Amino acid sequence: MKILEILTAPDPRLLQKALPVEKVDNSVRKLMDQLLEIMYFKRGLGLASVQVGIHKRVAVIDLGEREGVPFKPLLMANPELLWVSPMTQRTEEGCLSVPGYYAEVVRPLEIRVSYLDENNKKQELEARGLLADCIQHEIDHLNGILFIEHLSFLKRKIISNKLIKEKKYTKGDL
Ligand code: NI
Repeated sequence: MKILEILTAPDPRLLQKALPVEKVDNSVRKLMDQLLEIMYFKRGLGLASVQVGIHKRVAVIDLGEREGVPFKPLLMANPELLWVSPMTQRTEEGCLSVPGYYAEVVRPLEIRVSYLDENNKKQELEARGLLADCIQHEIDHLNGILFIEHLSFLKRKIISNKLIKEKKYTKGDL
């Protein structure tokens, strides 16, 4: 089995849009499992297939335990925002593809999303707060958008210049 690796910025594959899956079959379920495994290993809250160089509209999220209640991992294929609230929230975001950088991003506070679950069943979910933020972050990935795109031009420039420099510097070690 091919071992999947997380791509990091400025890898151009992160800016490529993913294509919808026809249905959630065994191969898509396997991809969902692999994404979960890497996400847990890297201690992320979410992971989109684009981040491992697979351009299918598949993403997973696990917020862990929330106020004592275990969160059931959310496995999504073809997630689509049906509605977003006019009210926004400001959340500090990070990303496994932009390691070491965190910044506040403004996004709608509440959303309604449709997706195919691991059993190929169409689901609709209303989310707010952190979950709404994560879902929007992962859908962005499937559209080839990194969270730093939501920052001001100057902030984005500073982060991407640092990332480019770091990559050059560590190239020999990888
Ligand atoms: Ni991310």
